[in-house]
Amino acid sequence: MSSSNKCMCISPIVNLLVVATLLSSSVIQVESLNFSYATFTRPDFTMTNHSDIAVDALQVTREARGPSIANLAGRILYKHPFQLWRKRKNITASFNSTFVVKITPKNNTIWGEGLAFILTNESRSVPDNSSGQWLGVVNASTNGTTQGNIFAIEFDTKKSFEEDIDDNHVGIDVNSIYSIKQVSLNGIGVNLSSGIEIPVRVQYDGGLKTLDIYVNTSGYNMNSPTISMLLDLSEHLSEDVYVGFSASTGEYTQNNCIKAWNFTSTDIDDDDTANLLWMWILISAALIAFIAGLFFLLCWRRKMKEKQIHKDSKVELQIQGSASAPQKFRLKDVKHATANFHPQSMLGRGGCGIVYKGLLSKKEVAVKRFSKDSNQGVQDFIAEITTIGNFHHRNLVKLVGWCYEKNELVLVYELMPNGSLDNHLFFNKSRDMGGSSSILSWERRHIIICGVATALDYLHNGCEKRVLHRDVKSSNIMLDSEFNARLGDFGLARTIQLGGETHHSTKEIAGTPAYMAPESFHVGRATVETDVYAFGVLLLEVACGRKPGNHRIIDWVWELYQRAQIIEAMDIRLNGDFNQEQAEYVLRLGLACCHPNPYQRPSMRTALQVLTGEADPPTIPSQKPAFTWPAMAPSAAEIWMTLLEETNSHE
Ligand SMILES: *[C@@H]1O[C@H](CO)[C@@H](O)[C@H](O)[C@H]1NC(C)=O
Ligand SMILES: *[C@@H]1O[C@H](CO)[C@@H](O)[C@H](O)[C@H]1NC(C)=O
Ligand SMILES: *[C@@H]1O[C@H](CO)[C@@H](O)[C@H](O)[C@H]1NC(C)=O
Ligand SMILES: *[C@@H]1O[C@H](CO)[C@@H](O)[C@H](O)[C@H]1NC(C)=O
Ligand SMILES: *[C@@H]1O[C@H](CO)[C@@H](O)[C@H](O)[C@H]1NC(C)=O
Ligand SMILES: *[C@@H]1O[C@H](CO)[C@@H](O)[C@H](O)[C@H]1NC(C)=O
Ligand SMILES: *[C@@H]1O[C@H](CO)[C@@H](O)[C@H](O)[C@H]1NC(C)=O
Ligand SMILES: *[C@@H]1O[C@H](CO)[C@@H](O)[C@H](O)[C@H]1NC(C)=O
Ligand SMILES: *[C@@H]1O[C@H](CO)[C@@H](O)[C@H](O)[C@H]1NC(C)=O
Ligand SMILES: *[C@@H]1O[C@H](CO)[C@@H](O)[C@H](O)[C@H]1NC(C)=O
Ligand SMILES: *[C@@H]1O[C@H](CO)[C@@H](O)[C@H](O)[C@H]1NC(C)=O
Ligand SMILES: *[C@@H]1O[C@H](CO)[C@@H](O)[C@H](O)[C@H]1NC(C)=O
Repeated sequence: MSSSNKCMCISPIVNLLVVATLLSSSVIQVESLNFSYATFTRPDFTMTNHSDIAVDALQVTREARGPSIANLAGRILYKHPFQLWRKRKNITASFNSTFVVKITPKNNTIWGEGLAFILTNESRSVPDNSSGQWLGVVNASTNGTTQGNIFAIEFDTKKSFEEDIDDNHVGIDVNSIYSIKQVSLNGIGVNLSSGIEIPVRVQYDGGLKTLDIYVNTSGYNMNSPTISMLLDLSEHLSEDVYVGFSASTGEYTQNNCIKAWNFTSTDIDDDDTANLLWMWILISAALIAFIAGLFFLLCWRRKMKEKQIHKDSKVELQIQGSASAPQKFRLKDVKHATANFHPQSMLGRGGCGIVYKGLLSKKEVAVKRFSKDSNQGVQDFIAEITTIGNFHHRNLVKLVGWCYEKNELVLVYELMPNGSLDNHLFFNKSRDMGGSSSILSWERRHIIICGVATALDYLHNGCEKRVLHRDVKSSNIMLDSEFNARLGDFGLARTIQLGGETHHSTKEIAGTPAYMAPESFHVGRATVETDVYAFGVLLLEVACGRKPGNHRIIDWVWELYQRAQIIEAMDIRLNGDFNQEQAEYVLRLGLACCHPNPYQRPSMRTALQVLTGEADPPTIPSQKPAFTWPAMAPSAAEIWMTLLEETNSHE
């Protein structure tokens, strides 16, 4: 994976992180407020064009700039909103605010208009044409409508409307310039337009919905509020509001200032904020994990794919490297042929996989699909293709082709319509034999074992490379349409180089226990003699019509042989319908092949000759010799003795 790819994968993660962080910060920004200003720092406030911060004061309508301060409206708000109420939780915040109002008339005889403490959802602007009597709170068109979304405590210095009681009063306004409650300050000795600093305390209880305003030049006296009322702000305002001041001038002007300002509100969303924070942290984490996971998955898959392709080509190379490899099929076609390995097309289950019936290139085939969890899978697969791939022998199952794709190992053979030998021996599946008897006749059995012997002789002695089958057993003998034996399943087969070398065995111990020669466990490898042993077991199995058990069949037949009753071993289901001499030869050959001493076993060539009548069965000791290890190679004297015996028996 190149580095540019990595960058491309990582940058979206970073972007997402940034977005998540921004979102979370913007979401958790609205909380309660708690600030205290004796002097003001400009960046903490938003203000409209005609407002300013100067001379340690919020100049809500500014004094110094421009040719005139007549007909101005302005607002200064704290830059962050606060949570006033939450619909979901039916809760309203409480807040306290203290500030010092200083209104200085610019004309000693007439002044105006006034200043207001406001809560509103609009942070950026003041309504158009809200100067003069509108105090920057509403204008003629937003007055009395919910559009204003504003709560105001007005400090009115001019009697502009009929409703105004005088030019020195405090009033409470909601979405209107009309005060729902107003109190003249004349009665308490406060003159708003005197230019002196007037401390004001605003106290709102969100639980009781009470609003108290204290105006007292001598300080924050909280004994009796100047004006007090029940007011549910959540009925009129947004959940989150900005807090600040608005003011206006008309034809008559004054300087509207706030000298100091404290504000505290209660936190009504505590757990919400925490939840939100956690939510965002979790979402971000989940996103990161997801994307990282995706990234790694993609990388991993690509890697696996590359690895697979590499593996595929390696296997293919090994296969193609062998002399004349059979046809390579596409997995797509194989799947099509077997209805995607449908259980209904299953023929049987073997050691390293399942065999299916299929129709490939208009030919009926048997498809062996190696199970994926077998470690030996690939090796057995290659072994099978390279050993028998180029064999054309009438007693070997013909390998038509192979397929290796996406870790799927498949071998395609020509279909053996009569299945495997063990089925006919033990499960009487030979219904389509046509005859009345469902038992394999002795003639048939004889032809079959001759076929197997021919096949094994061919493998051992007939081709340029000696091949050990290593897994000769009745379930690996297939029967063609004419009940001829075809040796199959070369999964364990191994090639050994011929050509003078002394070794004629392969490492690795493998096979089916009942057919394994006793010395295999000692030698730890397969030899031609172990194949002969397995063939011997097969001979006894076929003749007796019994499963080999754990070598019990050998002991049993040998015992009968000792008592000169060997013919009793024959399958009783044959009803004695067999050539006695031939049967005895076969049984004796079986015992000879199962000789505990591998050196005493005949070769496949000899075995074949015995079966075809070209040679007599080898002599065998009347009692089964004990297995000894290491086995003794026959001495010259022994060989001579054997020869003698043989000539004797011929006489
Ligand atoms: C507000 O802040 C001040 C000083 O930072 C602190 O003493 C006070 O307890 C805070 N009030 C609230 C309600 O958080
Ligand atoms: C405020 O002033 C800026 C430039 O000084 C101007 O572009 C903007 O329109 C003004 N806003 C109002 C509401 O007058
Ligand atoms: C909200 O709470 C108040 C008491 O604080 C209660 O009178 C009112 O009925 C509640 N409203 C709703 C919708 O639950
Ligand atoms: C407002 O002040 C009152 C009286 O001092 C106090 O009981 C209340 O807790 C304060 N509220 C806030 C939000 O600071
Ligand atoms: C604001 O609060 C501080 C103490 O936190 C106090 O000294 C100051 O007088 C208060 N200012 C106003 C205008 O209430
Ligand atoms: C005060 O207002 C009156 C009436 O509009 C005007 O005649 C006078 O010139 C003003 N004085 C100052 C100092 O602006
Ligand atoms: C009142 O203010 C709003 C918002 O600024 C504006 O759209 C509207 O035109 C103004 N109305 C008048 C009569 O100026
Ligand atoms: C606002 O007032 C100006 C004059 O000051 C006027 O030209 C304009 O039409 C007014 N806007 C509205 C919407 O009334
Ligand atoms: C403003 O609206 C209120 C209703 O909220 C109304 O009573 C009052 O007369 C209006 N004032 C003006 C000047 O339009
Ligand atoms: C403020 O509230 C009013 C009425 O609820 C709404 O029309 C307006 O869009 C809100 N303004 C902002 C900035 O949210
Ligand atoms: C204003 O405060 C002074 C001193 O704290 C107190 O004597 C006076 O009664 C207060 N005035 C009003 C109207 O509450
Ligand atoms: C308030 O103060 C101003 C300026 O000092 C003065 O002109 C006015 O008469 C005073 N009003 C009252 C009601 O005392």
